Amino acid sequence: MDFMKGKLVVVTGPTSGIGKKIASDIGSMDANLVLACRDINKGRQVAEEIIRRNNSAIIDVMHIDMSDIQSIKEFACQFREKYSRLDVLVNNAGVNLTGKERQHSTQGIELTFATNVLGYYLLTCELLELLKSKASARIVNVASTLASDVNLHDVQFEHRPYDAMKAYAQSKAYDRMLTWAFARRLENSGVTSNAMAPGLTPDTGLFRSMPVESRLELSKRKGCSIEDGADTAVWLASSSEADGISGKFFEKRKEIVCEFRDVEAEEKLWSICEELTGSTFMANPSIRKCSPL
Ligand SMILES: NC(=O)c1ccc[n+]([C@@H]2O[C@H](COP(=O)([O-])OP(=O)(O)OC[C@H]3O[C@@H](n4cnc5c(N)ncnc54)[C@H](OP(=O)(O)O)[C@@H]3O)[C@@H](O)[C@H]2O)c1
Repeated sequence: MDFMKGKLVVVTGPTSGIGKKIASDIGSMDANLVLACRDINKGRQVAEEIIRRNNSAIIDVMHIDMSDIQSIKEFACQFREKYSRLDVLVNNAGVNLTGKERQHSTQGIELTFATNVLGYYLLTCELLELLKSKASARIVNVASTLASDVNLHDVQFEHRPYDAMKAYAQSKAYDRMLTWAFARRLENSGVTSNAMAPGLTPDTGLFRSMPVESRLELSKRKGCSIEDGADTAVWLASSSEADGISGKFFEKRKEIVCEFRDVEAEEKLWSICEELTGSTFMANPSIRKCSPL
């Protein structure tokens, strides 16, 4: 697809499921791809698979742990040293944990919130200058229609019983709310910010830690293929039809209503992310040194 030829695209979580399909589809469009993954060997395998299908694909595999603030900042520093622009950022990497036991990130933050919410927020903030250096650039956030249990006074489940499923549903509502908060800040900048829902896609690795019975139950529900799950994100990232569209929520390439639109709540979430990551929108580039972090 000529529209994507030579464009620089970052995909997080490209080593499995929906992200792998997004990367593979974008790799077939002659875009330059950066696979941002926590397991470099898996990333290299994915890169080889894409190159086998499309000889001319240009792929860089870079390490990032999306649950770890330090790792995201390190990735961003290395990225800024290598590249002076960015056309598309696809925030896709996510976890869906199980059980009633809280797990924590390196910084001691509840792991689902750290990965699915702070990860999206921080990586976007860190790469924003490069996105803004292009006349038009796109942020695509992989969210979900499964979204609930929002409590901005207790985003890390410190004052309510921990439930991994609820933490996941909350994180996916926050992915949308951050998308609207970025879109608001980026109005008239040429950078668009949209969220999408893949639809239930049972064949990815997302449900790997679920008990066998729950996975069996899930497989009986009518879900979509990985191809279909990835399709709307690929369309938002690469289609000329999506040009200039921002602040919208899509499923199956159609705009759908988001029940989590509330500027005050979005801004409260923004402040929480800002405080926990120590990173802000358009931080002064002069203070962005690669080391020490
Ligand atoms: N599947 C569904 O039904 C569904 C529905 C709605 C939304 N979604 C969303 O779609 C996105 C992709 O999920 P999926 O279903 O494709 O699941 P998946 O197959 O488990 O893929 C998740 C990807 O995220 C990566 N990842 C997880 N934690 C990471 C971390 N700390 N740092 C860096 N990368 C990390 C994984 O890396 P590894 O390969 O190293 O594990 C993998 O590449 C998620 O945001 C999910 O919430 C999925």
